[in-house]
Amino acid sequence: MPVITTVATTSFEGQKPGTSGLRKKVRVFQQPHYLENFVQAIFDSIGDGTGKTIVVGGDGRFFNRTAIQVILKMAAANGYARALVGRGGILSTPAASCVIRKYQTFGGIILSASHNPGGPDEDFGIKYNIPAGGPAPEAVTEAIFARTQDIREYRIAEVGDVDLDQLGEQNLAGMMVQVFDPVADYAELMASLFDFAAIRALFAGGFRMKFDAMHAVTGPYATAILETALGAPAGTVMNGVPLEDFGHGHPDPNLVHAHDLVEALFGADAPDFGAASDGDGDRNMILGRDFYVTPSDSLAVLAANATLCPGYAQGLAGIARSMPTSAAADRVAAGLGIPCYETPTGWKFFGTLLDAGKATLCGEESFGTGSDHVREKDGLWAVLMWLNVLAARRQPVAEIVRDHWAKYGRNVYSRHDYEGIDTAAANGLMAHLRGLELKGQQLGGYGVAFNDDFAYTDPVDGSVSTKQGIRIVFDDGSRIVFRLSGTGTEGATLRVYIEQFQPDPALHHLDPQVALADLIKIARDVAEIEARTGRTEPTVIT
Ligand code: G6P
Ligand code: ZN
Repeated sequence: MPVITTVATTSFEGQKPGTSGLRKKVRVFQQPHYLENFVQAIFDSIGDGTGKTIVVGGDGRFFNRTAIQVILKMAAANGYARALVGRGGILSTPAASCVIRKYQTFGGIILSASHNPGGPDEDFGIKYNIPAGGPAPEAVTEAIFARTQDIREYRIAEVGDVDLDQLGEQNLAGMMVQVFDPVADYAELMASLFDFAAIRALFAGGFRMKFDAMHAVTGPYATAILETALGAPAGTVMNGVPLEDFGHGHPDPNLVHAHDLVEALFGADAPDFGAASDGDGDRNMILGRDFYVTPSDSLAVLAANATLCPGYAQGLAGIARSMPTSAAADRVAAGLGIPCYETPTGWKFFGTLLDAGKATLCGEESFGTGSDHVREKDGLWAVLMWLNVLAARRQPVAEIVRDHWAKYGRNVYSRHDYEGIDTAAANGLMAHLRGLELKGQQLGGYGVAFNDDFAYTDPVDGSVSTKQGIRIVFDDGSRIVFRLSGTGTEGATLRVYIEQFQPDPALHHLDPQVALADLIKIARDVAEIEARTGRTEPTVIT
């Protein structure tokens, strides 16, 4: 008989899930009982798992396999009947959402620290997704956190490890573990949404792309879908083998970290299209030849062209974007006569809108785009939607975006990040901004229409979220938004989002850093960034 043990434990400080689960250094997770406490807190908070099925998988980073073994043994000890595990412990975040929904499970545990670096000295993360497939809402994460604070014991099966590389069923202390192909269900879903025949014809006609998997989880997905199913030439997928430390890289698809891809798209003999995804496969960056598409513009362009894709041919019910994301999507929604919702940062806020059928497409400035096909943002989905649009329109990426601006006007946009600043200084800066009353004043020649700290009432369930970012909105509709990142693990990261609407096509070609120079200066001055943080320049500009 397998031994189910109840292990006495004491609580750890700070097991508080952030924007997207609990993220800490690997060394923190390696402390005895640390992972076990959090996993037991999840099981204790989500209801009785007896007889239920749970999905488990992660982005393949260092500690992924170790954590999965612990979670499986604890799931067995907590009465679960079945666990669905991606082969090799691999499961991208959107694929996990797909599988959680498709097999009507009791949710899933996803191991990832998303775009943060991996390795023994880097980051690890764990989060619970609900049966609808999305990240746990705040009520659930708060319950989990509360449980971590008074936990006294956890349950685990004292048995040998599961063979994670062996497809099929294995018995683990009475629980059936099913190791499945992590790509198949997801690839099938993508084929149901997009015109694969048209995309295949595009590649067959000589269209060239590069997809940078950044040695993270999307490698196997992109290779199977782009190269095998859609006939893109071998080598289209770069850095396609998932590595535990992402090849010492920082798997964040932006202009700074996806440098191999950026070099290819902005160099000689550039391909037609470039894209990258992050550690766990939910983010995306889109590039054309010599052209960068901001995530805010990407959402707007995809929304405007959605009916070209079979899965969205019937039109969109609505669009949702996070508050700091530019209002480009709002203009498309207005043109289509559909609502556009403005939510706080964090994909979980889209869940109720998607479940209620109020929004079909969602997007965030933080390189997240997705739809009601799953309940997570989805990197490869965005790439395939772009490919479908490109296959239908047969125009270069840059031309599609410029045409879009000509029709709707351009929401010129940039985000400035100040990473790794002192936490007390960052909190002081936000408190300073929160205390300002700017309405009716002039800042650098711009009249302030209002300033506030964004608060949101969910239109579906009525839940209220406050303190979601400081907005300074000017009379001409330009905005500056300040927030502190909720995903970092070292010090604080200040994000400053700057946006100005430009209706005049003659000015659409301007570099946003030039076009936004006045507002950028106003932002630095009003927040006293240099005086408070010692920084004269941002560390990352997107
Ligand atoms: C994660 C969430 C996103 C969110 C982002 C914000 O990636 O999944 O939904 O937009 O964090 O990150 P930040 O560092 O700005 O809090
Ligand atoms: Zn991610």
